[in-house]
Amino acid sequence: MRIAWAFTGAGHLLLESVEELEELAGKHEVTVMLSRAAEEVLKMYGLYERVVKVTGGYYRELALESEQEFSFPITGRLSMGRYDLLIVSPTTSNTISKVVHGIADTLVTNAVAQAGKGGIKSLIVPVDLEAGDVETVLPSKLELERCENCEPCQAAAVCSQGAIIPGTEINLLKCVGCGDCQAACPFNAVSGGRVITIHMRQLDVDNTHKLTHLEGVSVLRQPSDIKNHM
Ligand SMILES: Cc1cc2nc3c(=O)[nH]c(=O)nc-3n(C[C@H](O)[C@H](O)[C@H](O)COP(=O)(O)O)c2cc1C
Repeated sequence: MRIAWAFTGAGHLLLESVEELEELAGKHEVTVMLSRAAEEVLKMYGLYERVVKVTGGYYRELALESEQEFSFPITGRLSMGRYDLLIVSPTTSNTISKVVHGIADTLVTNAVAQAGKGGIKSLIVPVDLEAGDVETVLPSKLELERCENCEPCQAAAVCSQGAIIPGTEINLLKCVGCGDCQAACPFNAVSGGRVITIHMRQLDVDNTHKLTHLEGVSVLRQPSDIKNHM
């Protein structure tokens, strides 16, 4: 099959999405599209290079919103029916909200709109599915209560990106999620993959519900459900 896989900037279900992408890209022709936020967030979780690795070649491009202007020519392939399937996983509440209100001003929302016009089925995995609390994973984080303010800071010394502001925080826009800082800090003051509970807003859950009424769109609970709906 020829597939377009779009990522948005959600940390939730991100690793699971990359794992499914890797599996599909071994068997199918997959173009990967990244929203600006997806590009940043994939780097924060140390997953960007894994996505780059499955791409390369015609119809196996890595299409970055950050390198596009405003009209997203690559999504024209969807309106012309050149793909068999569009997958959006994981999908932020931001992107879901735009899609259900007919807004198509980003690479990913535009891809969904063009897929609809081209009669291409879309499989969408939203992160905000049901009301209530949900557990999610954080990227690297400086845990200040454990930080001993060493001089020099050993975590900062090993960071090739200059992302650590000693005694303060990690600049996530510079972080590439390599985890070197976690190993270097003698006081375990840098956490990676800490699990926190966040609350799903009713507004976002309602938007996800509206998505189920959109023609040509199937809403899936998790990335591992994708292969059962292809
Ligand atoms: C580390 C990190 C994790 C995030 N995880 C989520 C998430 O799980 N769900 C979500 O809706 N937004 C999440 N965001 C916020 C989105 O990236 C932000 O709303 C962005 O504007 C979405 O743009 P997009 O929908 O075009 O990708 C996260 C941001 C950061 C920095």
